[in-house]
Amino acid sequence: MEDGEQKDQNTEEENEQKKLEEKGQNTSGDASSCPQQPLSKSAKKKLLKQQKFEAKKAEKKAQMKEQKKREVERKRKEWQDTLESIPEEERMKLIEARKGLRKERMEKRSEEKEKKMERLTQAKETGQKIVIDLEFSHLMSPNEINSLCQQIMYCYAVNGKSPVPAYLLLTGCDGDMGSQLLRLPGFDKWVMEKESRSYIEALHDQKCNLVYLTADSETVLDELDINKIYIVGGLVDRNRWKGITMKKAQDQGIQTARLPIGSYLKMSSSQVLTVNQVIEILLKFMETKDWKESFFQVIPQRKRFEASSREDEEETTAEGETKDRDEQLESKKRCVEVNPVLRGIEECNN
Ligand SMILES: C[S@@+](CC[C@H](N)C(=O)[O-])C[C@H]1O[C@@H](n2cnc3c(N)ncnc32)[C@H](O)[C@@H]1O
Repeated sequence: MEDGEQKDQNTEEENEQKKLEEKGQNTSGDASSCPQQPLSKSAKKKLLKQQKFEAKKAEKKAQMKEQKKREVERKRKEWQDTLESIPEEERMKLIEARKGLRKERMEKRSEEKEKKMERLTQAKETGQKIVIDLEFSHLMSPNEINSLCQQIMYCYAVNGKSPVPAYLLLTGCDGDMGSQLLRLPGFDKWVMEKESRSYIEALHDQKCNLVYLTADSETVLDELDINKIYIVGGLVDRNRWKGITMKKAQDQGIQTARLPIGSYLKMSSSQVLTVNQVIEILLKFMETKDWKESFFQVIPQRKRFEASSREDEEETTAEGETKDRDEQLESKKRCVEVNPVLRGIEECNN
């Protein structure tokens, strides 16, 4: 899936979230059991601002679509004009050349697909195992579940492109989550483990190797150990379920670790990332063995700034904001890379 599609999807999720807010529903936690709450003055102001922003974004999207359509039409006409302006023999040659190019492109694509399948099959045997824990669907709204499915689709696409892919396992893959995932195109053919049982049950013989990744852990992840199985919480919650994965891991008596973000950069907000960002960072690290590069390549620039507005602190929708927002922030940005000396101190402290 293209980045743009991911962004669109998250934008839809944000729109839905806003629609619920407009209706005065509290979407924190289990929406069905929460009483309606009137919006505060500042929440109304924020909502209005967000609505204007969304309207502008929708307008821009429509313009882009229109522009793309015009461009396709322009190219088609250009091609027609070219064909009409040349003699028959030359025309045939040109058409053949174009057909040849198309064939070449298709062959290249299918070759790439074959290589991807080889890499993924190899990763199943020897790759780093990463679990996405899908046991949180009861804590998410339908839109959040949908957003998580899109994130998983994105993870699978990025993993397939990676020169050093991981072996991804989806555990707790049933119920609402399971049926939503089944709707994803080609999901049944994905090279990954789809397990309806929880990881603690399915991987009980590996319990001592399970490491739950959670921003709330006191342990910093310095290296990836091929013998360990890293678990990422399948949750889209704007961090309203603070500490839930940490508590789960503690209750189950399994290890935890957090990404070493603070050692390499300063974030404009908390260090809680989305599922796809965490997986992408792990994949980048497997490829480069360099945390700094992995963070800089994956964490959006706007999250690495010290933004002047608290509004920029929304979490878990990292892929969901458009360039507009980035452009707005451009003027405010202050990219802060952690001083290597401070990094050393932090590492000693951990
Ligand atoms: C959107 S977060 C969910 C936040 C949730 N409130 C929680 O307590 O985990 C999705 C998952 O990404 C992983 N994650 C996010 N930020 C992380 C970080 N800084 N270090 C390690 N794992 C992180 C965790 O596994 C987390 O459950």
